[in-house]
Amino acid sequence: MKPNDRNDTPVILEKDAKAWWKEGVLYQIYPQSFKDTTGDGFGDFQGVIQKLDYLESLGITMVWMNPFFGSPLVDNGYDVSNYTAIHPRYGTMEDFQEMLDGLHCRGIKFVLDVVVNHSSNEHPWFQQSRSSRDNPYRDYYHWWPAENGTPPFRDSIFDPEGAWQFDQQTNAYYLHYFAKEQPDLNWENPKVRQEIYAIMKFWAEKGVDGFRMDAFQYASKDTTFPEWPKGHEKEYDKWYGMRPQLHDYLKEMYTEVIEPYDLFAVAEGAGTSFKDAHDLVDADRNELQVAYHFDCRDISKDLEGYQLSEFKAVFTKWDAAFKNNGWLAIYLSNHDVARLIDRYGNTDAAFRTPSAQMLNTFLLSMRGTPYTYYGDELGMTNIDMPKIEEYVDVSAIGDYNRAKAEGEDMDQFMKKLNFNSRENARTPMQWDSTKNGGFTEGKPWRKVNDNHQTINVVAQNKDPKSILNHFRKMVKLRKDNPVLVYGQYQILQERHSEIYAYTRTLDQQQVLVLLNFSKKQATITLEETIKTGTLWINNYDRLDAKEGQITLQPYQAIICELIN
Ligand code: GLC
Repeated sequence: MKPNDRNDTPVILEKDAKAWWKEGVLYQIYPQSFKDTTGDGFGDFQGVIQKLDYLESLGITMVWMNPFFGSPLVDNGYDVSNYTAIHPRYGTMEDFQEMLDGLHCRGIKFVLDVVVNHSSNEHPWFQQSRSSRDNPYRDYYHWWPAENGTPPFRDSIFDPEGAWQFDQQTNAYYLHYFAKEQPDLNWENPKVRQEIYAIMKFWAEKGVDGFRMDAFQYASKDTTFPEWPKGHEKEYDKWYGMRPQLHDYLKEMYTEVIEPYDLFAVAEGAGTSFKDAHDLVDADRNELQVAYHFDCRDISKDLEGYQLSEFKAVFTKWDAAFKNNGWLAIYLSNHDVARLIDRYGNTDAAFRTPSAQMLNTFLLSMRGTPYTYYGDELGMTNIDMPKIEEYVDVSAIGDYNRAKAEGEDMDQFMKKLNFNSRENARTPMQWDSTKNGGFTEGKPWRKVNDNHQTINVVAQNKDPKSILNHFRKMVKLRKDNPVLVYGQYQILQERHSEIYAYTRTLDQQQVLVLLNFSKKQATITLEETIKTGTLWINNYDRLDAKEGQITLQPYQAIICELIN
């Protein structure tokens, strides 16, 4: 098979097709859980500084860090009360600069989390806004005067009581799509937008390289607040997200901040259609540069597991839609979902290592910028939290209250929460087998997973066949081979029930990726035209191949070059 044989249309490369943020390998750090140096039980910037050599050893080239700004921490920092200050828990601005310089020296770019769909209710803007109806900050937020009656129903992602909160002081309701402590900013107000660009410029001047726009699809609102049909909230993103005006604001942001500082921005969310996603990130639109969708998250919430066919379909359809223009992030986990190995792999002792390696092989061999969540390079797993009293996450508690109010079967609910909750992904990083996994000398803010005795950096560093060392190998492979970054993706034998097989092709080079997603041996018979050459990656010592038939061990992952 010749490169391009499977694709009759030539690839039209978009304007400025090559970009560092496409070639990068991103690593996400949840700062309160990474490394504590003060003994207060929360990770801090000095902790990241201590681990800079570790980050470099991974080979990653970008770090996205979750919010660390001034905040009352109702939603672990996604409720910002001071956008240009560091929360003392993490250190000082000097520590931030030292961390940033340390990353930059090692060739690692920094992506800042920008949380501007909403602020904290303790932000001075909101304090002003709620103080009187004629305050100059009043229209920084959305208010509904109570004399006009109850506001039209709006649902909240976190609050079972809905998205309008009554505020006695001015006899009015304010809008909050997330918790009531996270009032939504009024993006229709040009002054608000200018304030936000000023904040982004502040950080750009400090030297950050990119932005992750939190919950951004919801920023623009129809401020007449029309009644929406009953049940509309079942299609949340469609009704609450992606108003056409959003694109004007993004273009404005591009001109004001992104272009002059030569940065990039990634959107959390990608609307509800490919068109929405393209409208956000196509190169000729000058809005955002990368998007990430939620489809892979949405197929993996059931206790019964997910279907490989759906998994393949999600990634294949998104790749096809972005073949010629636009760019996506590839991720399987982050701070908002449970651990990847619990959802897509297998935590049984016999399968944990190969399944985590196989999933990391997938992430690092797809088209799109790969995002690895801290700890996934070790195969860190979910934690068992069967009782609601153990939960601190505003979203888990909100979901619990909602389920209770709706009379759900609470035993079943707790089972699901235990499996799906975002707290699973927020446990401290497992550095070694000592008390608290080497994360803190104090009392960790979240309990460290007991399995840190076996799953930790020190142990895996020593083992050339560990998940960690496989991850390093994959990162290097991706960075050394543009075919893994830019090469076209083509799925093979889509219906195979255990193996996910695809090729990546760039110019005359073509590689084959074979991933066994099951805990059984699985065989694939390749087309006669496929001639395998050098083996680039294999997470087992063996490879059973004869006459075009390849049998993969449980969760075996291989990548090999093909001979034309
Ligand atoms: C985004 C963040 C999530 C946060 C929410 C509200 O979805 O990823 O962690 O709770 O926005 O800011």
